[in-house]
Amino acid sequence: MHRGFSLSAVLTSLAIVVSLCSRAAAGIVVETIHRFPPNESIALENLAVRKTGEIIVTLDNLPTIYQIEPEVNGSATFIHTFEGYVGLHGIVEVQPDQFYINAGNLSLVTHIDVPGSSSVFHVNMTGFPENVQVNKVADFPESGILNGMTLLSRDEGLVYIADSRVGVVYLLDVYKGNYSVAINDTLTNQPPGASETSNCVHGVHVFQRTPDSQKYLYFTNFAQGIVGRVPICENGLASGPAEVVTGNLTTPEDFALDEDGNIFLALFDDNDFIRIDEKTHEITVIAGSPNSTEYKWASAVEFGRRHSDRRSLYAAIDGGYLAPDNVGGTLFRIELGDLAVV
Ligand SMILES: *[C@@H]1O[C@H](CO)[C@@H](O)[C@H](O)[C@H]1NC(C)=O
Ligand SMILES: *[C@@H]1O[C@H](CO)[C@@H](O)[C@H](O)[C@H]1NC(C)=O
Ligand SMILES: *[C@@H]1O[C@H](CO)[C@@H](O)[C@H](O)[C@H]1NC(C)=O
Ligand SMILES: *[C@@H]1O[C@H](CO)[C@@H](O)[C@H](O)[C@H]1NC(C)=O
Ligand SMILES: *[C@@H]1O[C@H](CO)[C@@H](O)[C@H](O)[C@H]1NC(C)=O
Ligand SMILES: *[C@@H]1O[C@H](CO)[C@@H](O)[C@H](O)[C@H]1NC(C)=O
Ligand SMILES: *[C@@H]1O[C@H](CO)[C@@H](O)[C@H](O)[C@H]1NC(C)=O
Ligand SMILES: *[C@@H]1O[C@H](CO)[C@@H](O)[C@H](O)[C@H]1NC(C)=O
Repeated sequence: MHRGFSLSAVLTSLAIVVSLCSRAAAGIVVETIHRFPPNESIALENLAVRKTGEIIVTLDNLPTIYQIEPEVNGSATFIHTFEGYVGLHGIVEVQPDQFYINAGNLSLVTHIDVPGSSSVFHVNMTGFPENVQVNKVADFPESGILNGMTLLSRDEGLVYIADSRVGVVYLLDVYKGNYSVAINDTLTNQPPGASETSNCVHGVHVFQRTPDSQKYLYFTNFAQGIVGRVPICENGLASGPAEVVTGNLTTPEDFALDEDGNIFLALFDDNDFIRIDEKTHEITVIAGSPNSTEYKWASAVEFGRRHSDRRSLYAAIDGGYLAPDNVGGTLFRIELGDLAVV
């Protein structure tokens, strides 16, 4: 859904800026966890890690989720297909093994969305694989493209959902099924003169360094090429204007933050994963490169949740759906060592 035929030459020149400033990091180990065969045309969009370590992946081009075993050449097991939708984007866990996923309709060829076609579903993984319970939580009649999701309050069941077309972030109560616009800022919005297929706010993550410090919603804006953040109140609304954390990024997609606030980010058209240092904002490439086919169209990352992989990122690539050099949607594990504070 993100291929950049709408992106301007500006972003192309910005890619050069990022490439010049970045350096490859030493001591990183990348393993291939699962590669879907290219001829099956499975485009990975997002992922979540279960408390037991397995990875759930969402697909951009099919309304299906799979579970992948967290080991080299780990197998993929079908979980569920959401009939009546074209594809899936964000996924978030609220209570243990209770996941929430958004589904919607977006042309895989023109990238033009069906306004209001998106919904959020609850997927109860407790009984997997024998018994997976799926039920709809809410329809989003005003939405464009629902995208990244993140947890605000486990107890209250409040999650943020980015809308990449409308340019706002919704807050959804997954128990009551109602939602409202929580964040609507020029930094989450479309850039001036955006085309019909432009995607803006994309990934979202809540971050608070210590229980006493300001809580922020961090976000990426794909078309604006930024990571931004906005201070938030306990009720989830913005308590001030958003600010740019790092700009001049090529097509930033989904990301994760470690305990110190270092950012680990997928750059879609740059075919790589980077680390942005919390203090210096220095960019380090942790896997991939602009010309890489191995990492074609980087889409999302999440930290492992087991003792053995808590310093590792599970990193997904689209693979290059409908492109001649499609390598197949792939899940990698990137062991970060000292680069991550966990
Ligand atoms: C993909 O290729 C493999 C190996 O050649 C074959 O077994 C499989 O049936 C193909 N799948 C599709 C969907 O064409
Ligand atoms: C993973 O699969 C690849 C390709 O089939 C193979 O070369 C490699 O030995 C396998 N690695 C492990 C650890 O099973
Ligand atoms: C979404 O796409 C599916 C599959 O093509 C179709 O069955 C469904 O009617 C579409 N929904 C909307 C709201 O257009
Ligand atoms: C999840 O499913 C299990 C059965 O597999 C059931 O016992 C449990 O109540 C369900 N939890 C929720 C929150 O729906
Ligand atoms: C859901 O509705 C209740 C009652 O009207 C309201 O207080 C609450 O703010 C709404 N929640 C969201 C996330 O909009
Ligand atoms: C976002 O804010 C702009 C400017 O105030 C407003 O025009 C627009 O309707 C808002 N969007 C939503 C979805 O609330
Ligand atoms: C992007 O780079 C240009 C040229 O170096 C600089 O002037 C501008 O401030 C940067 N923008 C952001 C948002 O960092
Ligand atoms: C990437 O590919 C372009 C076009 O083929 C080429 O000009 C450039 O030198 C390549 N860059 C690297 C780092 O290999």
